[in-house]
Amino acid sequence: MSVDWDVLRAKANEALGWSYSPYSNFPVGAAALVDDGRIVQGANVENASYGVGLCAECGLVSNLAATGGGKLVAFSCVDGHGNVLMPCGRCRQLLYEFSAPGMLLETVSGIKTIDEVLPDAFGPRQLEEYSRG
Ligand code: THU
Repeated sequence: MSVDWDVLRAKANEALGWSYSPYSNFPVGAAALVDDGRIVQGANVENASYGVGLCAECGLVSNLAATGGGKLVAFSCVDGHGNVLMPCGRCRQLLYEFSAPGMLLETVSGIKTIDEVLPDAFGPRQLEEYSRG
């Protein structure tokens, strides 16, 4: 599946408009291409109890589940200036759960795979292997 990074980044920028970030004043917008061709988006939603704020990727994976599920093929996120942003560590884990094999991310150091940004990831396979004994 070919990835139009300009479209994906534009969708991430569009999602910036949904951000609720009055505490950090750091809006984040995210967008991802799903394996069925649709695009899902998310924005950060903060809280007066700072620690419970939600990253843009949280909204994105919720949006994925709410609109039919599937696996993520490509991902981009941007800050309020429209600059590409590296997803935080927790969000790499969120994305990993729903990643298609070889999922691509637009990062500050170019296009990378999910395995490059989260090597030796913990995931569903570890739980399955453990339960098999
Ligand atoms: N943030 C995200 O939404 N995604 C990331 O990957 C990095 C950080 C948000 C969380 C918080 O609302 C703001 O950026 C500042 O940390």
